[in-house]
Amino acid sequence: MSDDDTSPDRGTDIDEQTERARTDGGTGVALDPWGSATVADYRDLFEEFGIEEFEEIIDEVPNPHYLMRRGVIFGHRDYGAVARALANDEPAAALSGFMPTGDPHIGHKLVFDELIYHQQQGADTYGLIADLEAHSARGMTWEEIDKHARDYLLSLLALGFDPEEGELYRQSTNRRLQDLAFELGSNARFAEFQSIYGFDGSTSVSHMQSVVTQMADILYPQLDEPKPTVIPVGPDQDPHVRFARDIAVKTRYFKVTEAFASPEFDAAERVLVRRAYDERDEWADDPEQPRCEDAAAYLHAAEVDEEFRAARSHAVEKLENAGMEPLRPRTRFLDRNADEQAFEALIEAVPGEKRVFDAHIDSFELDRGEAEELAREVEVDNGGFGFYTPSSIYHRFMTGLTGGKMSSSIEASHISLLDDPEEGYDKVKSATTGGRETAEKQRELGGKADECPVYELYAYLLANDDDGLAEEVYEECVGGERLCGGCKEQAATLMQEFLKEHQEQREEAKELLSELDIDLDVDASRRGVPGDEDE
Ligand code: TRP
Ligand code: SF4
Repeated sequence: MSDDDTSPDRGTDIDEQTERARTDGGTGVALDPWGSATVADYRDLFEEFGIEEFEEIIDEVPNPHYLMRRGVIFGHRDYGAVARALANDEPAAALSGFMPTGDPHIGHKLVFDELIYHQQQGADTYGLIADLEAHSARGMTWEEIDKHARDYLLSLLALGFDPEEGELYRQSTNRRLQDLAFELGSNARFAEFQSIYGFDGSTSVSHMQSVVTQMADILYPQLDEPKPTVIPVGPDQDPHVRFARDIAVKTRYFKVTEAFASPEFDAAERVLVRRAYDERDEWADDPEQPRCEDAAAYLHAAEVDEEFRAARSHAVEKLENAGMEPLRPRTRFLDRNADEQAFEALIEAVPGEKRVFDAHIDSFELDRGEAEELAREVEVDNGGFGFYTPSSIYHRFMTGLTGGKMSSSIEASHISLLDDPEEGYDKVKSATTGGRETAEKQRELGGKADECPVYELYAYLLANDDDGLAEEVYEECVGGERLCGGCKEQAATLMQEFLKEHQEQREEAKELLSELDIDLDVDASRRGVPGDEDE
C-alpha cells in the first residue's frame, strides 16, 4: 500500500439506507418480494419471521461454501435436512429462480454460486428463469425477457453450472411445472394471497398465477422423488418460501405425531403427558399398565412452570375423559388427505402391533422417523406427492457501490456481469468506502471495513475461496495499515480480471447453451400485453 493514499470518500448513504428500510415496513422489516429489497436489521428477521441463524448449523454442513463461512449466508429454514442428506450421500436438491428483468449482476452471482456449490456437493440442482413473473408483475415484454433469459443462463453456465447433471428451464415453456402449479393452486386461497402479499381486488390474475408457479418451482425438484430441497434466495423471497412450506404440508396425505392414548395432545400438552408417563413409577398402581385417569390426578397436583399451566389443564381434562384407558406411548398417523385406498394401504403397511381408528392409525413399534418414511412411501405409491417441506438459505444483500442498496436501476451502484472489464475497474475505483476523512486518521483509527462496499466486494466475490485474503483485507483495514486508494486499486484490478475471465467463459458457454433444449425465442410464438409493473 503506497503512502500517499487518501480516503476522502466515506459515504453518508448508509444511514439513509437504514432510514429507507425502516420506513418501508413500519416494523423495521419489510419482506416484500416485489418491493425494494433492503433490510434494516437482519436480526429482526430471526425474531419476527422465525428465520434461523445459519451460524448455528454451519458445523453440520460437510464443506461449507465461503459465503457460508463469511456469514454472507446468514439465515435458513430447516437447512439441517439438506445438510444431513448431503453428508450421508442421500438424495437432495437445490433450486433457485431469476427474474429476467435486466442484466445479471454481481448480486445474482451469489445465487449462481450457491446453486453451483450445491450441485458440486451432489444435490440435483435446478436454475429457472421466472419469465411469467417478469411478464405479469414487472411488465416486461417477451422480447426483453428472451434477451435477459439468455444472459442469465450464459452466466450461470459460465460460472460452472453443469446442465447435464442439473436442469435449467423457463417457467413459460415447462408444461410439467404448469400442471404442478395448477394442482397446488387447489391448496392456495385468495385470503392467503391477501395476508401474505397484500394482494387485493386490483391484483391481476396473471400475477397470482405467477405466485402459484413459484410455489411449483420450489416443489418441482421433488416431482420424480421426494427429497430435502434447499431454495437459496434473498430474504425478500421468504414470504414465498413460507407459503410453499405451508402448501407442501397441506398436500400431504398423513401427518405423523406422537400420542399416548386415544386423545390428541398438542405440543405443550405432550411434554406434560410424556413427563407423567416417565414418572409413572410414582403414581401408577401398576407401572406396566398405567391408567389415564391416574395420570390426570398426578399431573393435576404436579408442579409445572407458569407457561405450561394452560396446557396442563387441557391435558388433565383429556386424560380424565380417557378414564381407565392405558397410557402408552405410540406413533400416530393422522389421515389428512388420504382417500380410502391410501388409508387401507397404510393400515396394511404398518408392521407389528397397531390399532386402527376412523381417521388415524396408532403404531406401537415404529418410531417417528420410520413412521414418516412409511407415510411418504404409501402416499407416493397411491398417487400423492409425498413432499418434504422445502428448506431455504438466505444471503445478505450487497451494498451498492455508491452506498445504499445495490440496484439494477442505478447504473453506478452495481457491476453487471456484462460490464466492460475497464468499466468494472472504474466503478470500483469510484466506489464509496468505509475509510476516514484523511490518511492520517485512517492510520490512527483504522477503516470501517464492516461498512465498506469495497470490503464487501472482497468478501462476497473477489477473495473467492481464499479466506486468507478476505481476512488480510479486513485486519489491515481496521488496524489502520491499509488505505483506501491502494485497497480499491487492488479490488478494481481483481474485478477487471474477474469480468474479463467471466466474459470469456460466457463466450465458451454459448455453444453449450445452444445444445440445450431451452426455447430462447418465446417472443416468436407468444402474443399479448405485459402486465403492470407493480410497486
Ligand atoms: N421471485 C423470484 C425473484 O423475484 C424468482 C423466482 C421464481 C424464484 N421462482 C423461484 C426464486 C423459485 C427462488 C425459487 O427473483
Ligand atoms: Fe478503505 Fe479498503 Fe478499508 Fe474499505 S476495506 S475502508 S476501501 S481500506
